[in-house]
Amino acid sequence: MAIILDGNKLSQQIRSELKLELENLIGHQKPPKLSVILVGDDAASSVYVRNKEKACNDVGILTETFRMPSDSNQKEILAQVNTLNNDLNVDGILVQLPLPSHVDEIEVINTIDPSKDVDGIHPFNLGQLVQGSPIFVPCTPLGIQQILLRNDIETRGKRVVICGRSNIVGKPVASLLSQRGVGADATVTICHSRTDNLPNITSNADILIAAIGQANFIDGNMVKPGSTVIDVGINRMDDPTKKRGYRLVGDVDYESVIEKVYAITPVPGGVGPMTITMLLNNTLKSWMKSNHLPGNVA
Ligand code: GUN
Repeated sequence: MAIILDGNKLSQQIRSELKLELENLIGHQKPPKLSVILVGDDAASSVYVRNKEKACNDVGILTETFRMPSDSNQKEILAQVNTLNNDLNVDGILVQLPLPSHVDEIEVINTIDPSKDVDGIHPFNLGQLVQGSPIFVPCTPLGIQQILLRNDIETRGKRVVICGRSNIVGKPVASLLSQRGVGADATVTICHSRTDNLPNITSNADILIAAIGQANFIDGNMVKPGSTVIDVGINRMDDPTKKRGYRLVGDVDYESVIEKVYAITPVPGGVGPMTITMLLNNTLKSWMKSNHLPGNVA
């Protein structure tokens, strides 16, 4: 039976470490603060943002969310980002993605002050990552690396296959795990919707990272026996037996994979909570940098 990589438990542990770190460092400075911009009323995004607010409160990070109507225009959104860029009380800025389709998402991301880009998605921070001198690493990739590190799953010399090429998960996690160093040094392959003969590639992976956004896409025939599977997917599936009318499933068909693998992250309760925990990590890191405080964060 596979090891279940419990992201809730690991998150709790790291959040108490971050809380302690903050308590030890805080003197007369203003406390760290994360500002979130949420445009529109996408149900899943609203849930994520509420979870982020709660997590900040738990570790002592101040937080505020700017909820903007779904028909906000480009200029209004950029103005809000610039207000936060110029606010000395703000250490971290997160623009919840996806933005409505009429918005130029790239321009919004490129407007965030890189020194407050705790999501690690500004080209400056992505460039630093690719260069091998990361400052803010995107939260999901960093969370995945922490899951592997803290469960003693070796990456050095291992074959990592990533399904998905998004700017926020697939591309940065490939950079992170192929870097030199502890928790990295992997041989990485990125697959996507145009990849020929996908099962041939995934079934050679020592570590398979599924970030496709399609429910139950990876089944037992696509994984290598004894491998580790990291499921980044969060998909809603209709389920009349649930009060909400749906349940959350990953990109991996958990039941068909679990008998075969060494370890797997569940959905929910795997990568999801770790993404939020790394957002707290990065916000604390930003605050430490601007206050010239030493510290022990990822
Ligand atoms: N939407 C889903 N995940 C994320 C994330 O990590 N950051 C942002 N900004 N938006 C998201």
